[in-house]
Amino acid sequence: MEIVILPTAAEVGRAAAAKIAHRIARHPETVLGLATGSSPLAIYAELAARREAGLDVGRVSGFALDEYVGLPTSHPQSYASVIRTTVTEPLGLDPARVHVPDGLADDIEAACAAYEAAIADAGGVDVQILGIGANGHIGFNEPTSSFQSRTRIKTLAPRTRQDNARFFDSLDEVPTHCVTQGLGTILEARELLLVAQGEAKADAVAAAVEGPFASVVPASVLQWHRSATVILDEAAASKLRLAEYYRYTYEHKPPFQRWD
Ligand code: GLP
Repeated sequence: MEIVILPTAAEVGRAAAAKIAHRIARHPETVLGLATGSSPLAIYAELAARREAGLDVGRVSGFALDEYVGLPTSHPQSYASVIRTTVTEPLGLDPARVHVPDGLADDIEAACAAYEAAIADAGGVDVQILGIGANGHIGFNEPTSSFQSRTRIKTLAPRTRQDNARFFDSLDEVPTHCVTQGLGTILEARELLLVAQGEAKADAVAAAVEGPFASVVPASVLQWHRSATVILDEAAASKLRLAEYYRYTYEHKPPFQRWD
């Protein structure tokens, strides 16, 4: 895992976007794995700015990680809406190339299987963007999710519902279930790129990066991936024991490996 610690949240977004833009410039048909939540918003804003400045994203496609079950796609907090307003529209992506799991299907299992098939048909995800929940979840893979899990329905942890209640009028409005790509699905992406900002994420980040590989911390699955990058601000990195080593490594990164 490459751990990058930057002074501010804004720099985290810029650096992650630079890494993605570097790839899109070389591979215009890049398939992005899209996360929702506040963590990746600066990435999407920076990619939109780079598109204005000439980055060609016309052949980029995307697959969202997750969706609430039972929320109409027209609801502003459905991930279909969130991805449209924060990614598809600002980046000018072709809506037909941007996919979100179906949380309204009568047959959820069949819809999950179809989503897995669509990812495979697109050639798999090249760069999976990830945030991290305060309980260590990625996507909506809550603690004790199987490391081999595939896209499926999950029950949201009470803490996740509370954390996400800020986007809704009340806690009661937050759905109890979701559809999420599994940890096994996420592991198949060619690159994983996790961003975290703020002290509220520091424990989860430390557990994921330096704790045991254990499903009780779903984000620890990054330790098993051959190409995972974690970009943090100082606050999110504040509980890492080896922070000095990560800084030293980044400062001494060989030029041919740089993407900033
Ligand atoms: C949400 C999403 C995750 C996200 C996480 C953290 O519920 N399902 O994909 O990474 O929780 O959210 P935030 O970035 O808002 O802290």
